[in-house]
Amino acid sequence: MSEDLKRQAAAMALTNLRPGMRLGLGTGSTARHFVDLLGEKVAAGFDCICVPTSEVTARQALSLNIPLSDLETLDRLDLTVDGADEIDPDLNLIKGAGGALLREKIVAAASDAMVVIADDSKLVPALGPRFPLPIEVNRFGLGATQRAVADVMARHGAQGPLRLRETAPGSPYVTDGGHLLLDAFFGRISQPEALSRDLLDIAGVVQHGLFLKMCKTAYVATPDGVRTLTS
Ligand code: A5P
Repeated sequence: MSEDLKRQAAAMALTNLRPGMRLGLGTGSTARHFVDLLGEKVAAGFDCICVPTSEVTARQALSLNIPLSDLETLDRLDLTVDGADEIDPDLNLIKGAGGALLREKIVAAASDAMVVIADDSKLVPALGPRFPLPIEVNRFGLGATQRAVADVMARHGAQGPLRLRETAPGSPYVTDGGHLLLDAFFGRISQPEALSRDLLDIAGVVQHGLFLKMCKTAYVATPDGVRTLTS
C-alpha cells in the first residue's frame, strides 16, 4: 500500500516535466519511484539532463539510461524532485534518513524549484517529533563536535539522545562525501531557523537535515488521492 502511495506521488511530479529540463534526482524509496518513471519517459524519447543526489540514485539512473551531469557542467537546475522524512504545514522539511542530505541540499539549492513527493505519513504539525534530525559531521574531532551538538540540543530543549549512525555495532555509517552522521532526537523543534544557524556555527558540522523554505510544492499521496500542497 505504502509503495503504491509513494508511486502515485512520484507520478504526480511527472506533470512538472518539460523537454530539455535540467533535473535534480532525489534519494530514498519515494524518489526511487520517480527515477523509475523518469526512466520510462527517457526510454520513450524524453530529453532531459539530471544531477543525482547520491551514488545509489546515480547507479539507478545510469541503469535506466537517464543522462547524467554535475554541478560543474550545469550552473543551475530547473527542478529537483526528492522525498522527505517530515513535512510541516509551511513545507519545511527534515531530510536525511537515507543519509544523502548534503548532496540533496546542494542540488536543491542549485535548483529553481524543489518538489517533494511523499505519502501522508510524512505530514507533521511541527518538525521533529517522529524522526531524529540527521547532522553530517567531519570525522576529525568527532568527540568535540558531538559535545558541541549536545550543547545546542540542550539549549533548544531537545528531548532525546544524540547517536552516531552505524551500519552495524561499531561500524559508523559513512556518507557519499566520506563524513559521519549524528542522529539528534529533538522532539518538537520550535525554532528551526535558530537551530539551523546554531548547528552550522559548529566547526565540525558539515550540514544538517533541516530544509527550510526550500520547497514550494509537495505532492502527498493519501488513500483518497494525491494532495498538492504549496507554500
Ligand atoms: C535521503 O537522504 C532522504 O532525505 C530521503 O529523501 C528521505 O529520507 C525520504 O526517504 P523515503 O522516500 O525513503 O521515505
